[in-house]
Amino acid sequence: MAFSERVTRLKSSLIREILAAAQRPEVMSFAGGLPAESMLPTLEWAEMPASLGQYGMSEGEPALREVIAAEARSLGVACEASQVLIVSGSQQTLDLVSKLFIDPGTEVLVEAPTYLAALQSFQLFGADCIAVPQEADGPEIAALRERLEQHKPAFAYLIPTFQNPSAVRYSEAKRDAVAALLDEYEVTLIEDEPYRELVFDEGSASPIVGRLKKARWIYTGTVSKTLLPGLRVGYLIASPELFPYLLRLKQSADLHTNRIGQWQALQWLGSDRYRQHLADLRDFYRQRRDAMQIALEAHFGDLATWEIPQGGLFFWLTLKCPLDTRTLLAPALERHVAFMPGEPFFIEPDRHPGHLRLNFSHVAPERLSEGLARLATVIRSAVADEAA
Ligand SMILES: Cc1ncc(COP(=O)(O)O)c(C=O)c1O
Repeated sequence: MAFSERVTRLKSSLIREILAAAQRPEVMSFAGGLPAESMLPTLEWAEMPASLGQYGMSEGEPALREVIAAEARSLGVACEASQVLIVSGSQQTLDLVSKLFIDPGTEVLVEAPTYLAALQSFQLFGADCIAVPQEADGPEIAALRERLEQHKPAFAYLIPTFQNPSAVRYSEAKRDAVAALLDEYEVTLIEDEPYRELVFDEGSASPIVGRLKKARWIYTGTVSKTLLPGLRVGYLIASPELFPYLLRLKQSADLHTNRIGQWQALQWLGSDRYRQHLADLRDFYRQRRDAMQIALEAHFGDLATWEIPQGGLFFWLTLKCPLDTRTLLAPALERHVAFMPGEPFFIEPDRHPGHLRLNFSHVAPERLSEGLARLATVIRSAVADEAA
């Protein structure tokens, strides 16, 4: 069959395959980034105007764009509603960004590790990804400078607040240093922030795009982690000179984001009800995080090291014995437990063995200990085989 040459670069998503296996009711899943079912708010539809069944504007619903711009300004991002584009989840931002910037061989700068589905999108369009190692408080600044000096990436893609998968939150100093370097080398920043609101331990973390003086930028967010991922509503805010291109790409992709989801998002964002919902979410997830920490200490103390995440949905474990964690997946699923291997989050998976990403929002606390005990058994037996 004759497909486009880019289809040869289309990789199957390990996450999708794992999530499919994790759907089985007997499987305890630490794999996905799913919000807890019990925290999905109940939606009301009675007031929804029938006119929303009509086609809408490609930019998105004007009132929603206003609310999002106001929220971004409160975070120090100077912007107007005219710079806001409503997208079908922030995943669509990654697709539009790929289409706008990437030809085969275009260099793109990412964190190591980075969000798997972003890598997939960039690589589908033929990007040559360059990675900057992560430390506990953000990227290695000397390495970032070196990469920018030696390459001319079309953009840098960063997830500075509760990074997926590493849970790292960049420090203030690193945020300033990154902004200064991107300005110096005039490299566009794509800042992806799905987890900003899921914060358990306070700390300042205003967006990097608000610190830029020269470089162009696109900031993207979503309601997937705070309201409902099934709504498929996200947004991007872009430098004025980038916006018209993104708008045309959006138009050609799907005309506009579904208006019903946008209307629902608008019933929440910026309201007191939403603020209360966020407070409830943080309490709920903080408790789940703490329960996971206790269970991890019990079962993984001798097997791995990790930092306690201050927000987001994941623990990122580093095994003391650097096994290829992809090989643990089948035996884990046999014991009805799913997790996300760390290797696919790196551009050179084989060079980064020994990490696991564990979601703490989904499995109920009373089943946690049992699930982690099973996973630890799988790892212990692989370590023993390795030693034999
Ligand atoms: C870093 C990152 N970006 C983007 C997304 C996609 O989110 P959405 O549901 O808004 O498409 C996710 C979802 O897990 C994510 O972790």
